[in-house]
Amino acid sequence: MKLNSLLISLVSIASLVTAGFYDNTKSIYEVNPSNFDDVVLKTNHTTVVEFYAPWCKYCILMKGHYKRAARVASDYATFAAVNCDKDENKPLCAKYHIEGFPTVISFRPPKVNLDDYDEKKMKHAAEVYRGKREAKPLVEFLQGRIKNYVKRLNSLKLEKFLRVQDGQRDRVLLLTNKNSLSPVFKGLAIDYLGVYDFAYFHVNDDNRVLVSSKINVLDDNFDLPRIVLVTKDAIVLFHGDVKSKSSISEFLSGYKQPVEGEFSVKGKALKAINSGRAKNFRDYFKKQKKQQLVKDEL
Ligand SMILES: *[C@@H]1O[C@H](CO)[C@@H](O)[C@H](O)[C@H]1NC(C)=O
Repeated sequence: MKLNSLLISLVSIASLVTAGFYDNTKSIYEVNPSNFDDVVLKTNHTTVVEFYAPWCKYCILMKGHYKRAARVASDYATFAAVNCDKDENKPLCAKYHIEGFPTVISFRPPKVNLDDYDEKKMKHAAEVYRGKREAKPLVEFLQGRIKNYVKRLNSLKLEKFLRVQDGQRDRVLLLTNKNSLSPVFKGLAIDYLGVYDFAYFHVNDDNRVLVSSKINVLDDNFDLPRIVLVTKDAIVLFHGDVKSKSSISEFLSGYKQPVEGEFSVKGKALKAINSGRAKNFRDYFKKQKKQQLVKDEL
């Protein structure tokens, strides 16, 4: 073997040893003690964290499943991972009493009371996942652990919901023919917590005409599901893909800014952490400020 190629293979072996499983996975955060709290705890979303070691057989087996689960569920849950083989991460793995790999823990925030919000009271419930280490059961487990801020309306309440009074928050309404609520819509409600009030209404043959009479932009044979934004001045129909959280959020953020998610300030900071451009929130905002100063000077 030539010296050059020997060096290259040595370098790649070294990077295999130190690299995290999910370094290049957009929907999974490789976290460390400097950003764990920012990613996992400073949020109204439920987060799942896989504590792993790159050499462990069961971790290698789980890797693909974890990625698949993140691809399916990252609209409504945050996915993170901690490489417990790294020295800098060892205190974190000790703090959560990690004894075997992989250990998967969900961190569930308490329900926010919008009338009496106190961030200091935000204590997350940590729960070890004991199900099969496969994508589907993990996703189902998480769906059961996301907070629901979407109210179900009956016909009486629908009328009230469509009339925003002075001083009240604007509203987002999902019209659906399903009895269960999609987790994506629950995820949206968390991104816009305190910004919009969210509700859903179950449309059937008996109330279809009533609905289209209340929401005059719909005619009697409208498709379901539909999403409607209700402000004091107008009822606006969303025309994009109702399954895409990103498109719905883009539409909603055109009126009001979300607290979390990709169209929020926080979402941009998280993106920078995920891609390695910032170590944590503090570092991100420091860099932003510096950039702003440079811009101002030009
Ligand atoms: C949780 O939601 C409340 C209400 O909108 C908001 O004030 C708060 O900043 C959110 N918490 C986090 C950590 O984003």
